[in-house]
Amino acid sequence: MTGKLLDGKAVANHLKEEIRKEVEQIKEAGGTVPHLVAVLVGDNPASQSYIRNKMRSCDQCGIRSTVIKKSADISEEALLKVIDDLNNDDEVHGFIVQLPLPEHIDEEKITLAIDHRKDVDGFHPVNFGRMALGLDAYLPATPNGILEIIKHYEIPTSGKHCVVVGRSNIVGSPMSILMARRGYPGNCTVTITHSRTQNLKEECLRADIIIAAIGRPNFITADMVKDGAVIIDVGINRVEDPTAKRGYRLKGDVDFEAVKEKASFITPVPGGVGPMTVASLIQNTLKAGKGEIY
Ligand code: GUN
Repeated sequence: MTGKLLDGKAVANHLKEEIRKEVEQIKEAGGTVPHLVAVLVGDNPASQSYIRNKMRSCDQCGIRSTVIKKSADISEEALLKVIDDLNNDDEVHGFIVQLPLPEHIDEEKITLAIDHRKDVDGFHPVNFGRMALGLDAYLPATPNGILEIIKHYEIPTSGKHCVVVGRSNIVGSPMSILMARRGYPGNCTVTITHSRTQNLKEECLRADIIIAAIGRPNFITADMVKDGAVIIDVGINRVEDPTAKRGYRLKGDVDFEAVKEKASFITPVPGGVGPMTVASLIQNTLKAGKGEIY
């Protein structure tokens, strides 16, 4: 079997076009244009690239966007002050602090400081808790983007065995909750695996759906995949390649070339989950701008 490509870029463009139309209507009616602020600390090249993509997508959708850049040596206290100002700024509907942060800053403290009503990343415990309870919430962008891809391609999930590889707060953990939730997409039997899992290969071989979010290039190999499985690759790993224009190439967590021969559906990297993450963030920002606050 050769897997059908899950074209995240195309689905994201479709979603962004819907958002653009809605923003245009808001503008025509004299309403408030949603405003997203991104806080970028330091000069991590991957983070800079993600922020550029997020801002470009805001432009495409007619959404107002601002980047606040701070040097890597900003104190935790000064960063908390930036967040406090954004929490209290009525012109800002949603904001994100791009992760990872420098070592001396406690990411947990920063996440907790963000007003959950402006937490369009969906990282605050209020949003995480609401999500876990099945209440309306700002869903975290990457897991929500994955749900949108599954919906778009009408991939069956009910009763299926979904193996999530990775237990991060922003992908693996919320993804496992969302796939087990009542409804569609959902109703899966979920196994969440991580670095201490024994017999990872056997766990993956039982999966109808694998969601790989470990951040290691080509970690999921063809011998770990059942024939006909659906493969969602969240990894965006920079792998050195002197023949590439930028000196590196983006590789997923899945050995794409070999695994696509066994999969029924598979996301590519780039062009799979990445663009969907951005589209979901913009979706949340539109909600925030319209006052759909959780
Ligand atoms: N770092 C990696 N993914 C994300 C994300 O979705 N949001 C933020 N703020 N930082 C990230």
